[in-house]
Amino acid sequence: MIESFKIGDVEFKNRILVASGTFGYGDEVPDLVDISKLGGVVTKSLSMKPRDGNPNPRITETASGMLNSIGLANIGVQKYISDKLPVLKKYDTKIVANIAASSVDEYCKVLELLDAQQRVHGFEINVSCPNVKEGGLSFGTDVKLVSLITKELRQRTRKPLIIKLTPNVTHISEFARACEAEGADAVSLINTVIGMAVNIHKRTPKIATTTGGLSGPAIKPIALAKVYETVNAVKIPVIGIGGIVSWEDAVEFFIVGASMVQIGTANFINPATGITVAEGVKKYCENNGFDDVGRLVRTLQTNKTISIVDSWL
Ligand code: FUM
Repeated sequence: MIESFKIGDVEFKNRILVASGTFGYGDEVPDLVDISKLGGVVTKSLSMKPRDGNPNPRITETASGMLNSIGLANIGVQKYISDKLPVLKKYDTKIVANIAASSVDEYCKVLELLDAQQRVHGFEINVSCPNVKEGGLSFGTDVKLVSLITKELRQRTRKPLIIKLTPNVTHISEFARACEAEGADAVSLINTVIGMAVNIHKRTPKIATTTGGLSGPAIKPIALAKVYETVNAVKIPVIGIGGIVSWEDAVEFFIVGASMVQIGTANFINPATGITVAEGVKKYCENNGFDDVGRLVRTLQTNKTISIVDSWL
């Protein structure tokens, strides 16, 4: 059974990654989870300087989902390189560094520092955080800026370059096409959906920034539709993210056309979800006559003439 998948020159042992912001820097869970069984770990977003993030409360539970407004809190890239990366050397998995920034220049500088690190295998560029005033969505909803960021970063690394896209736009495929045109190796989607929750006793928002990003099972149908739209628009691999809690969920994403998937919010319930998903996907493939998980990808049967999403493309 072939489970591995290559992006650029990097071979991931399987198609299951853990999503940024749901697995720390990868060094906190090894006592609970054998991270060597994962295709890779996507780090928490890293910026040039440490960030405290948004004021509390910045997380709340909703029906079938979680609303967060962390505000890209992180230790900063220098501390990540000095304190976190060395610990990860002993694990046999790929490390994808997620980068967030408030300017094109900051993206470039952070990427250059990380590109020099052998233990960093690739990059996921966060142009889609809905919880910051600078960067995040203000970049990710502007197709010209997404193009520019991709172009600048492509010139600075030969390692896999993945752009993480927001669903908070009308046509996500337009953004994926721009990334592909500027040399991205893959796109990952979706980041969280802008959402809100209200405390009816205090008549206040449940999180300090009023709105936040919704994740978890509530957004899986949105993610599947965005992945479907995107795989029909680009040739580069699409990494599916959004509400995956079981291997069955992951199989849905592969059928729709995702080449890899990321497990996000489910890690807060069980950080070993990625491993059970990888095992379940493998068994499903064996039981259904696929000798390579890749053969399952994009096997969805649709009637394109009556499909609404196909009429946009
Ligand atoms: O608020 C946050 O740190 C969220 C980041 C993201 O959704 O990319």
